[in-house]
Amino acid sequence: MTMSTNETNYTPRYARAVEASKRVRWELESDVIRGRSFDLAHKFMPDGLSLVGTLPFLSERERIFFSQVQGRTYANLFALVERWVNASVLGLSKRHLFGDQVALEALVRFSDEELKHQALFRRIEELAGQVMPDGYQFALDANQVAPVVLGKPSWSVLALTFLIELYTQAHYKQSIAPDEQLSPLFRDVYRFHWLEESQHALVDELEWLAEDGRSDESTRIEGVTGLIDLVGALDGLLKLQADADTGYFVAASGGTWDGEQTAALRAAFLAAYRYQHIFSGVQETRFVAVLRGLIAPAQLDRIVTALAALG
Ligand SMILES: [Fe+2]
Ligand SMILES: [Fe+2]
Repeated sequence: MTMSTNETNYTPRYARAVEASKRVRWELESDVIRGRSFDLAHKFMPDGLSLVGTLPFLSERERIFFSQVQGRTYANLFALVERWVNASVLGLSKRHLFGDQVALEALVRFSDEELKHQALFRRIEELAGQVMPDGYQFALDANQVAPVVLGKPSWSVLALTFLIELYTQAHYKQSIAPDEQLSPLFRDVYRFHWLEESQHALVDELEWLAEDGRSDESTRIEGVTGLIDLVGALDGLLKLQADADTGYFVAASGGTWDGEQTAALRAAFLAAYRYQHIFSGVQETRFVAVLRGLIAPAQLDRIVTALAALG
């Protein structure tokens, strides 16, 4: 330990996050947007995330529009999540104010990046709005959602944040990067986002471990309850947006849809959003490994049961 930085066992890991954050740092307009706009000839979301394969009655043009509606919502949901993630990070940073100065720097950079990412996703919403048909609605208010999330135990909020920042990376690496039919602008947005999210997941894990270290068995059980509540609340938000996006798709696609097709569209939107924001995350091996290390098998069973009951 040195007097100057108040180092801990975690300091080298925070230092790696700071170093990588400096190395990959990008600017919104000059690196990501570069004067481009969206071309509606291109898909936004890759098929593996949009689950468009469950809608065999769509034409090729309608399949592309389906991916664009989802891509627009994907960006808006990140902007919503990052509002509370940033508030949480600023809260956590206070723990390091007079302690580990490397950890503090990692959290300050993390916060700065999430503010920039929110600006990026607002820009994407603006660019999508310029070319897509009128009538799209993002049904959720980030400032209303944030206090609800932050009202849960810090252990639960960190678990959910870690999960989200892991699946963000998985979506890019496994689905967005390999799909050469995607909009080049959409693909770049998530490449640059992934570059910075990689460090966030490192920091989330350290903060979650530290929070767990301050917990006893009963606060850990409350943490699991909070995590289950958060996933349930997230599912409620995804349902609202799946409804909004189904309405928009039906109105703006130019097709005529019978009741059965409309129901299939709604089910596909909701299944895709649940896959994107809940199930693909809980499949992440890193998340499961850390979680298993922190909680008893009976608590893990509670989470598995809650996930199975979503519907
Ligand atoms: Fe982000
Ligand atoms: Fe992040």
